[in-house]
Amino acid sequence: MSATARKPIEKLTAAEARKELERLANEIAAHDRRYYREDAPSVSDAQYDELRKRNAAIEARFPELVRPDSPSHRVGAKPSEKFAKVVHRVPMLSLDNAFSDENVVDFVARVRRFLGLKDSTELVFTAEPKIDGLSASLRYENGLFVQGATRGDGTEGEDITANLRTLKDVPLRLHGRAPGAIEVRGEVYMTHADFAALNKRQEKEGRPLYANPRNSAAGSVRQLDPAITASRALRFFAYTWGEASELPAATQWGVLQAFEAWGFKVNPLTRLCRTTDEILKFYRDMEGKRASLGYDIDGVVYKVDDLKLQERLGFVSRSPRWAIAHKFAAQQAETVLEDIDIQVGRTGTLTPVAKLKPVTVGGVVVQNATLHNEDEIARKDVRIGDVVVVQRAGDVIPQIVRIVPDKRPKSARPYKFPERCPACGSHAVRELDEKTGKAEAARRCTGGLICPAQAVERLKHFVSRNAFDIEGLGEKHIIAFHEDGLIREPADIFLLERRYGSGEKAIMAREGWGEQSAKKLFEAIDRRRDIPLDRFIYALGIRHVGETTAKLLARTYGSIDAFMAAMEGNQAVEELDSIGGVGETVAQAIKAFFDEPHNRKALTHLLKLVTVTPVAAPRSANSPVAGKTVVFTGSLEKMTRQEAKARAESLGAKVSGSVSAKTDIVVAGPGAGSKLTEAHKLGVKVLDEDAWLKLVESA
Ligand code: IVH
Repeated sequence: MSATARKPIEKLTAAEARKELERLANEIAAHDRRYYREDAPSVSDAQYDELRKRNAAIEARFPELVRPDSPSHRVGAKPSEKFAKVVHRVPMLSLDNAFSDENVVDFVARVRRFLGLKDSTELVFTAEPKIDGLSASLRYENGLFVQGATRGDGTEGEDITANLRTLKDVPLRLHGRAPGAIEVRGEVYMTHADFAALNKRQEKEGRPLYANPRNSAAGSVRQLDPAITASRALRFFAYTWGEASELPAATQWGVLQAFEAWGFKVNPLTRLCRTTDEILKFYRDMEGKRASLGYDIDGVVYKVDDLKLQERLGFVSRSPRWAIAHKFAAQQAETVLEDIDIQVGRTGTLTPVAKLKPVTVGGVVVQNATLHNEDEIARKDVRIGDVVVVQRAGDVIPQIVRIVPDKRPKSARPYKFPERCPACGSHAVRELDEKTGKAEAARRCTGGLICPAQAVERLKHFVSRNAFDIEGLGEKHIIAFHEDGLIREPADIFLLERRYGSGEKAIMAREGWGEQSAKKLFEAIDRRRDIPLDRFIYALGIRHVGETTAKLLARTYGSIDAFMAAMEGNQAVEELDSIGGVGETVAQAIKAFFDEPHNRKALTHLLKLVTVTPVAAPRSANSPVAGKTVVFTGSLEKMTRQEAKARAESLGAKVSGSVSAKTDIVVAGPGAGSKLTEAHKLGVKVLDEDAWLKLVESA
């Protein structure tokens, strides 16, 4: 300990303070390392807190001496590396959104149509506030809390059991009769009062402030030290479930009641609604109560109450057909548009970004907002210098809604959208949409492979969290590596160490790199030499191929070899198009990607360096109808056509509208005509509805 360490802070000279801040920065960083990376703290929490407090107090007295590497800029070493992964036995899905009453009316109509309900048949929904926190899954075995996990990407989350144990709303043992195994799911959140108190504490201790209650709940639950989580006043509302050996009720409402009886908090505002009018009335009511609830909600969730009906409705891609989130209108604020920047995306789209005078919108400081495209700028008559209305809704990028004409200054000047790419100077053009014959809204850089901005964006996407997830290779590094020619295509990432060596000055000479950081980067890269097929496909950055489509493709083709081979054939587009959830635009984009020789070359390079692990076929692969082509004809009596089709597809069958030699099964109901005749002619197997149900129910 240095001589000044115990000197009262008021007595420190500037020189002593500078020295001590340096010592504290090093010492705290060393503790962080031991604590977070090696799991072997050498001081008690109290001693550690003392160090941080002293650091903060010295900084408060000598603000000009705050070091760039000051511990007060950090909450702790990056925690996420340390949580074990949990694969969700039942995926944690998200909800489809409704933004207007009309969307809700459509939703109800859709559900009724799917189920083929008569107008006179009542359909009951639960209406629940949509809590704005982060979702978590809590697993109980024989009534005991055994594992808690974050949602993660929905398929795989992080094991935060120890942290969730510290929440008083999380019962460690369920009261009463509990099933053998059940995963109770809900939202971890923080009240406004607890959030304000936490930020006050953070400020006093010289730690960074949280932007809003949701971020602070997320930050708190992902602390490596459960003691920190315990000090954070987090709460939990239970609202759904994952795997369950048995369910305590036959309705959503009934299960929520059982949750309560077991010791969970269920949102007390939850109601049953029997008509669309009741649903919309509930929504208005929540809108009115929203400001005084004391915690954030960002909408209302409606769920079909009857679990049997839920099961029949099933899922479309990543969301249930039986529920919808009715979102509240976004929050807005006025500010000045200071400038417009152009961002070049991964596929060359030029996106205008408004540079704003910083403004707080619903608790978050906003400085950038999207202006979408040049037509939008023209339509809204946006000029630089204008006062604009900015809107933020949930996690979506803030948007400029409109300008305020009365507040337009004389100096406001129109914006001329560039016709050349600001990054590479190539022409930026608006292609004609083949279907509509109109110019596309987006102006695209034609520089393709020579455009550094596109290349950087593609690489950024490639290493991003849901793709290769290479830690330590952030935007700044990618830009620098790309500029120097060290990384031009994805394969180069995996050759970095081999080509340049960890001690090589090509990397070390860069600002911010040392032997340690280079070594860490190489380790992070090495950890990703094996990658599951769905992530790999997503990482390729094919236009229109997001995570959901990547998963569908991975499940359909199983392995990278099979996928690539299929893309070479001239049936590729048709084949892609026939995958439920992949439309024609997407199919064309995928084919176009593989038709481009440069892409194939880059893929070949990459595949020499990484191993793509096959994705297990979905459970439905074992079903008796998996891979079969099925045609429904005539009228069905036990379910609607839509339901029959959805069910067949969920079991891996392909549903077609016409009978051909490729058809495996024709399900014929009363009134079947020419399709049935055709089936008999071709010798295709014909089943009636009951036989079909028997077949699929055996799955
Ligand atoms: S039900 C299968 N109920 O909203 C869907 N979600 O976009 C299960 N959320 O990830 C979700 N309040 O984090 C459900 N009462 C509520 C909710 C709720 C908040 C969140 C949840 C989910 C997201 C859906």
